[in-house]
Amino acid sequence: MPREPREPGPELVDPLLDWYAASARDLPWRRPDASPWAVLVSEVMLQQTPVARVLPAYESWLTRWPHPADLAAAEPGDAVRAWGRLGYPRRALRLCECAVQVRDRFAGELPDDVDTLLTLPGVGAYTARAVAAFAFGARVPVVDTNVRRVVARAVDGAAQAGPPAVTRDLAAVERLLPAAPARAARVSVALMELGALVCTARAPRCAQCPLRSRCAWQRAGAPAWSGPVARTQRFAGTDREVRGRLMAVLRDAEGPVAKDALDLVWRDDVQRERALDSLAVDGLVDPRPDGTYALPGPR
Ligand code: ADE
Repeated sequence: MPREPREPGPELVDPLLDWYAASARDLPWRRPDASPWAVLVSEVMLQQTPVARVLPAYESWLTRWPHPADLAAAEPGDAVRAWGRLGYPRRALRLCECAVQVRDRFAGELPDDVDTLLTLPGVGAYTARAVAAFAFGARVPVVDTNVRRVVARAVDGAAQAGPPAVTRDLAAVERLLPAAPARAARVSVALMELGALVCTARAPRCAQCPLRSRCAWQRAGAPAWSGPVARTQRFAGTDREVRGRLMAVLRDAEGPVAKDALDLVWRDDVQRERALDSLAVDGLVDPRPDGTYALPGPR
């Protein structure tokens, strides 16, 4: 007699969900009243930016543009200004384009399935699944770096996750998801939270971990990582730093700014011009015929 398939990984799922219920942070995008749009905004902001910096930007963004149609009607330059210091401001432009499409193609309501979400500007493999799971309660794996690290340790017994492999990573998380969609979505956010609070990249807090007794890495004696070490991205002195400084001048000005004001932010002419050109190519800066520069105007 073949055995009934058991819920996958119940020995991990039960303690994980108990821990999440007791220990998760109360974050606004996780509250039951967060709309699908609010969940999307949070996920886009959180992709490259820590929670503490996202919180105020998230609140003011949703107060100003509570529905996709509100942002679709806004000037992209206002969205870039409201993005403030979150970094990677192309995300703000993509959200505007996404809002326009949601208004025009989906009557202002975000679609609920991964494949349709993937057709929206700025919505990639991670974001589509995060919205499907967290906003609509779908049973889909949601895999970010925190989740990959938790699975690498708890399931594979490795200290780190190694290089990403999208199909394999999705399959590894999918195997951990319970059959019931709402429970599966909770497992996904709980894995993420465990990775953020306990199973951290450096100095994990294993003494506080609900999975400690079942964790393959702990059972193997917490061996050190012998694979390739990811280099942390440098920021100081990079074009990204220069772009950030140029954007700060434009955000802080009421209207267009003179070239002189931009020239003050960085000494190296070649690097500064390269950064400014790249911002124009990205549509984040509008070089005007009179030689001044502005945030992007009406669509
Ligand atoms: N909750 C849901 N998605 C999240 C994320 N990307 N980061 C932190 N908390 C989250």
